[in-house]
Amino acid sequence: MPSHIAIIMDGNGRWAMSKGLERISGHNTGVESVRRVAEACSELGIGNLTLYAFSTENWNRPKHEVDALMELLVRTISGEMKTFIDNNISLRAIGDLDQLPPACREELDAAIDKTSLHTGLNLILALSYSARWDILNATKNIAADAAKGDLQPSDINENTFKSYLSTAPFPDPELLIRTSGEHRISNFLLWELAYTELYFCDKLWPDFEKDDLYLSILDYQKRERRFGLTSEQLR
Ligand code: IPE
Ligand code: IPE
Ligand code: MG
Repeated sequence: MPSHIAIIMDGNGRWAMSKGLERISGHNTGVESVRRVAEACSELGIGNLTLYAFSTENWNRPKHEVDALMELLVRTISGEMKTFIDNNISLRAIGDLDQLPPACREELDAAIDKTSLHTGLNLILALSYSARWDILNATKNIAADAAKGDLQPSDINENTFKSYLSTAPFPDPELLIRTSGEHRISNFLLWELAYTELYFCDKLWPDFEKDDLYLSILDYQKRERRFGLTSEQLR
């Protein structure tokens, strides 16, 4: 079983348009897929689930869609508190959270605080997140610490770098799922995905069911992860 699954939840807009609805109703319905997947991961005993909910680039969408997404975020976080409690889920967040509207940030911080003693699944929301932002931010902080003399440049290794990323508390994902038939990373977890198994699913995110998650895990379990070695070395 993977210890960390990351998901690029894509296709909400197309799901809505195909039904003659506004894009935002796809985002609304997508929340139900989030609940299903979080429950399924909890039931399977998976430790970490990172969901790409809003990218740095998504700020450039039409203002009414951005506003609606921020409002949905506030409503979802407060509305799903029972799900977090019932499933012992600890809510976490990665990204440039200072960019979030104050009401959003407060709701998020309160929910993170309220669920911080839960010992089950870490449900990690990537919000105002992009991997290049995270890598640049880490680099700035490393440079600042080196300038202060707290860090020797020659001592910087992969573990040092990882410790400066917003994903530092979590293991790298073993499995990345992207829905909606798109085959790209879209600035998600560029450092952490170095050896992640990629799984692409044609279903649009609001149609994603627990069974689709199980299929992705079964596919992952059939793969041989060689990390640069030969099959013979692994045997
Ligand atoms: C993913 O669905 C959710 C967010 C990016 C917030 P999209 O809104 O990207 O849906 P499509 O890709 O336009 O169908
Ligand atoms: C990636 O989806 C971001 C999220 C799922 C939050 P996008 O729909 O924004 O990505 P592109 O534009 O297809 O690359
Ligand atoms: Mg999309």
